[in-house]
Amino acid sequence: MMNIWQDLQEKQRGTADRKIATLFDAPDRAEDFSLRTQFMLFDYAKTNIDAEARAALLRLVDEAEVPRRRDAMFAGAPINETEGRAVLHTALRNLDGGPIEVEGADVMPPVRDTLARMRSFADQIRDSAITDVVNIGIGGSDLGPAMATRALTPYHDGPRCHFVSNVDGAHIADTLRGLDAKTTLVIVASKTFTTIETMTNARTARAWMQDHGGDPATQFAALSTAEDKTAEFGINSAQVFGFEDWVGGRYSVWGPIGLSLMIAIGPKAFDSFLRGAQEMDRHFCAADPAENMPMLLALVGIWHNQICGHATRAVLPYDQRLEMLPDYLQQLEMESNGKGVQMDGSDSPRHTGPVVWGAAGTNGQHAFYQLIHQGTRVIPCEFLVAAKGHEPDLRHHHDLLIANCLAQSEALMRGRSLDEARAIMRDAGLSGDELERQARHRVFPGNRPSTTLVYETLDPFTLGQIIALYEHRVFVEGIILGINSFDQWGVELGKELAKSLQPLIEGEVSAEGKDGSTASLISYIHQHRD
Ligand code: F6P
Repeated sequence: MMNIWQDLQEKQRGTADRKIATLFDAPDRAEDFSLRTQFMLFDYAKTNIDAEARAALLRLVDEAEVPRRRDAMFAGAPINETEGRAVLHTALRNLDGGPIEVEGADVMPPVRDTLARMRSFADQIRDSAITDVVNIGIGGSDLGPAMATRALTPYHDGPRCHFVSNVDGAHIADTLRGLDAKTTLVIVASKTFTTIETMTNARTARAWMQDHGGDPATQFAALSTAEDKTAEFGINSAQVFGFEDWVGGRYSVWGPIGLSLMIAIGPKAFDSFLRGAQEMDRHFCAADPAENMPMLLALVGIWHNQICGHATRAVLPYDQRLEMLPDYLQQLEMESNGKGVQMDGSDSPRHTGPVVWGAAGTNGQHAFYQLIHQGTRVIPCEFLVAAKGHEPDLRHHHDLLIANCLAQSEALMRGRSLDEARAIMRDAGLSGDELERQARHRVFPGNRPSTTLVYETLDPFTLGQIIALYEHRVFVEGIILGINSFDQWGVELGKELAKSLQPLIEGEVSAEGKDGSTASLISYIHQHRD
């Protein structure tokens, strides 16, 4: 493996000064460096990856045995080694696939039963007097359903859905204000049913419902692997939807954690969402690496992050309803691949997951694109855009949206030279020193890489495909980096310290023994809050 990394590094050094735009001298560049499935087009032609670099990147897939590891994941092998678990979110969308065995038992019958129960519960809620659903969860128990519910707004024909995650009382207070406790369903979504934020919010919601004439016994549902704890909380078992520990939190939107989405869009549209993901699973399992969208997306990511050294990647959906995709992908990618130790316990010899960030276009253009175009750091950009919007009467908006999206990737690649800037200044009537001074500020270095994913329209099927595409990309990157993408020990220390700090904040225990900074922050807070 070492040689391939070195080889890639050398190739990168040898082509670093090449203009991406010159790669289009080859007439088939766009076709050669893009992938089409029946449903979408992934274009990575506007990167500095050439045929040799791609061939070397594909050797990483071979060396890391990505296809074998992929098959092991789909077959239910315990690939999450630090937790001794299988990784089977794909079973949740295995709608018409065969059996999948974990420890000798087929997991599909219970998966299908739970899905059937979710469908009938969702229908029952949609046909009832319930007007509002409040999903209380955090991380994977919030971001998936919240992002997908927002993305599929045009398909909402059920009760309004709200999402409460932060332990900050402001979040639940602002959400519950204005809701009618008698017509609200509260869904407590927590894989472990111990997460402090979720349990605190759940208790607050229960008290609110009791105080405002609702009935928590019938108006609470739970989504969890810990059915004993949901019973302890007092949730009627008929309204508890369980799942197994082989579904990771950030991969859980496909099962019970997606219940709020199913209630919003209906079981049929939710099925279509699952089918989209299943379609991407099939593509991921069947396509050759060079034609495999998740693998190529991963390799482009590795090229930019590990080989070129660009520490961040921007996700830029030109699709307002995907405004939460960057937040969702932050958890998916950074919680999965933000690791420093490899599977075998050794330190990773290279940087692992990149910083993922972004916002919907065109809003981002008026906020942070300045830095993307003229800043000193290169930020590889991942654009997403639909060929067709959901507002046929507003087609001119959509045309403008697409024009902006394509303009950005073109501008990033082409840039603007000093001579071009001078010519513009001259046309604006400037000359001499003033022209020279001004022109430099109008230079765009260009040669900044981006990819673009185009899909027909953001319907449930397509959203399912997009999410599964990114899930598999994270998997492939993780395998190539030799890390376990499916644990998240890095969130534990902060949780433990928060627990131990709580009595200090409440004033029950002295801050003695804490570091000076923490002690003085606590003291300042105590002086200023009562
Ligand atoms: O942030 C850590 C984490 O464990 C995530 O992985 C998970 O999605 C989130 O907390 C919520 O956990 P739970 O669903 O158990 O409440």
